[in-house]
Amino acid sequence: MGINILGMGRYVPEQVLTNDDFTRFIETNDEWIRTRTGIVSRPMAGWEPTWYMGKQAALKAIENAGIDPKDIGLVISTTATADFHTPSMASIIQNETGAVNAGAFDLNAACTGFVYAMDTAAKFLSTDRDMKYILIVANESLSRFLDFTDRGSCILFGDGAAAAVVEYSDKLYSSVLGSEGAGGKFLYARSMQVAPEVACQPPEDFSSDYEELPLHKLHQDGKDVYKFAVQALPRSFELAAGKIGVTKDDIDWFIPHQANIRIIETAAKKLDAPMDKFIITLDHYGNTSSASIPLALSESIDKGIIKRGQKLALIGFGAGLTYGGIIIEY
Ligand code: UT7
Repeated sequence: MGINILGMGRYVPEQVLTNDDFTRFIETNDEWIRTRTGIVSRPMAGWEPTWYMGKQAALKAIENAGIDPKDIGLVISTTATADFHTPSMASIIQNETGAVNAGAFDLNAACTGFVYAMDTAAKFLSTDRDMKYILIVANESLSRFLDFTDRGSCILFGDGAAAAVVEYSDKLYSSVLGSEGAGGKFLYARSMQVAPEVACQPPEDFSSDYEELPLHKLHQDGKDVYKFAVQALPRSFELAAGKIGVTKDDIDWFIPHQANIRIIETAAKKLDAPMDKFIITLDHYGNTSSASIPLALSESIDKGIIKRGQKLALIGFGAGLTYGGIIIEY
């Protein structure tokens, strides 16, 4: 079993926040952000809801794939920042794109969402061979969940969407999905719908400042997430690669979750793989959660960097704490 990416599309908001812009409201500077993260600027949604960005990306992916949206059997939307608890982003996008014959659901695996969705799609397509195409839409508006007084987290994230139309293929394929739920306390945002007067008990050992946190704002223990990330990235690749006897030398491009250049550099060292095989877009997108890997993929395809026939390793990590990797041929 495997998967073929027929076409991709992306949408990022026009509004951009540079590192210097942050100096207007928090104690920070461009040099610290660049050297500690590699990020220079990030798109920020203004009026655009999450589903709108997803819809725009999806329409481009459908156009680039050259398919009739009526032939899409399933829409999977990956998001940790949905506009609604219900309906799903996927159902909204299904309607907006004319995918009238598709089922639809959202998938939340935080920043690992696209990897989870690709693997889910590969498995749907291989068990239901009547399903022609699946539309995966990764759409995120992290800015709505950021605590803009927390300089350790608010400078990291951006907003945007990317989508892929995929079909069944018997090309090279391997995957691994994982989660270390004990690390949930290191990166979380409370649900928006919980009324302040309703006691919402956190899982045991969530941070002691849980009650004081602004409702639904992102809480992050940066160092703990960092420690997890630098081992999760190489491990995800090695686990997926080991299943099919592929080594890092067989891979043309690594497309890691775009969180921090130092995390990617450390992972590259652990894998003993050259940095010039790693696609980097975090400088201009920041960390867009589940949209980060498909944004990097879509941009690199459009620039002619990633070409048909090349072997790709898509590797992610994120809140959960989740991790996962897939190896595919483009
Ligand atoms: O999708 C997953 C999402 N999350 C991640 O991937 C996060 C992973 N973690 C990280 O990327 C890094 O831990 C951060 C970038 C968040 C922080 O980098 P760090 O090297 O771990 O810095 P730190 O938290 O140890 O802070 C070092 C210093 C502190 O000052 P003191 O205590 O040494 O005086 C911070 O207060 O840097 C300070 N600092 C800042 N200074 C200027 C923290 N944030 C900033 C800032 N500007 N924005």
